[in-house]
Amino acid sequence: QDKRESLYVTNQWANKFFREQLWDSDLGRSIGLSYFKERGYREDIIKKFELGYSPDAWTSLVDKAQEEGYSKEFLIELGLAVERDDKSLYDRFRGRVLFPIHNLTGRVLGFGGRTLKTDKTVPKYVNSPESEIYHKSNILYGLHLAKKAIMDNDVCYLVEGYADVLSCHQAGVENVVSSSGTSLTTGQIKLISRYSKNVVILYDGDAAGIKASLRGTDMLLEEGLNVKVLLFPDGNDPDSYIKTFGASAFKEYLSKHKEDFVFYKTNILLKDTGGDPIKRAEVIREVVQSIALIPDEIKVSVYLKQCSTLLDIEERVLLSELNKIRIDTA
Ligand code: GTP
Ligand code: MN
Ligand code: MN
Ligand code: MN
Ligand code: MN
Repeated sequence: QDKRESLYVTNQWANKFFREQLWDSDLGRSIGLSYFKERGYREDIIKKFELGYSPDAWTSLVDKAQEEGYSKEFLIELGLAVERDDKSLYDRFRGRVLFPIHNLTGRVLGFGGRTLKTDKTVPKYVNSPESEIYHKSNILYGLHLAKKAIMDNDVCYLVEGYADVLSCHQAGVENVVSSSGTSLTTGQIKLISRYSKNVVILYDGDAAGIKASLRGTDMLLEEGLNVKVLLFPDGNDPDSYIKTFGASAFKEYLSKHKEDFVFYKTNILLKDTGGDPIKRAEVIREVVQSIALIPDEIKVSVYLKQCSTLLDIEERVLLSELNKIRIDTA
């Protein structure tokens, strides 16, 4: 429709504005572009992802937008501008570097803006709100640049952040998408499964990453995807790992340290039990609950067999637990 098209056009204009600020303005170059370069990003990657910069001022975007006739209503709906009580507008993104978020055909739906400040009182990332064209739950960051590589390699790497996607591309790994720090949705999982049934979760090697890797991943099993997990050491994320150890060490790490999700989950849960029998029983139930979600019966029986070894418990006990769960949820 007309309105949706106008929203796309407005975002496209804003994307151009932010990129011009990054590349052509003195402040943009000395603050924004140097930020990206200090983080080690090459110019071809900065251009490929259409990164931008928003000046640290209240009305740089809104002044130019209104001068060029872009409607106030659309600027507000897209979250590019915020309205004051007196109806005047100010920029939402100020003094941030910008990561545009694209749909599958490459049109801009919104932006993620990273602060350049180190103080912890400002949010690290500010993102565009939901709008008529932007529904976060159905978008994966980087998918438009990844879909071919996901099909070619028949595997999709799932990372937490924008920076991780960029660094992977720079390291030559292009089959990667990000859920942008939020838990996965079924919409996002269905998107991935159009291109491949194999997912490898590359979350940050910190407490939050481990938690996120256990949350939301049962949905992947339920959709019949093959899920593997890999965590990075010492609180690293893919981006920092690549920066510290280099692209080839990263690829080597990817090829050697993937672990099947079911076994990964089993081992993590087991670590916390400390031999306590009640906690152990709880773990067994949780693991069987995940296995029960897998639609493929052959896979189910392979998992039961291997988990019986891992948990040191007879297979028939796991099987009867599985059947109980299935009756309860049927
Ligand atoms: P860098 O510090 O730039 O490397 O970011 P990161 O991607 O490593 O950040 P982190 O691991 O903390 O978070 C992962 C993702 O969660 C980010 O890429 C963002 O999409 C999202 N995120 C992080 N911090 C915030 C925040 O303060 N607000 C919102 N809305 N999202 C955030
Ligand atoms: Mn819609
Ligand atoms: Mn993190
Ligand atoms: Mn991170
Ligand atoms: Mn990071």
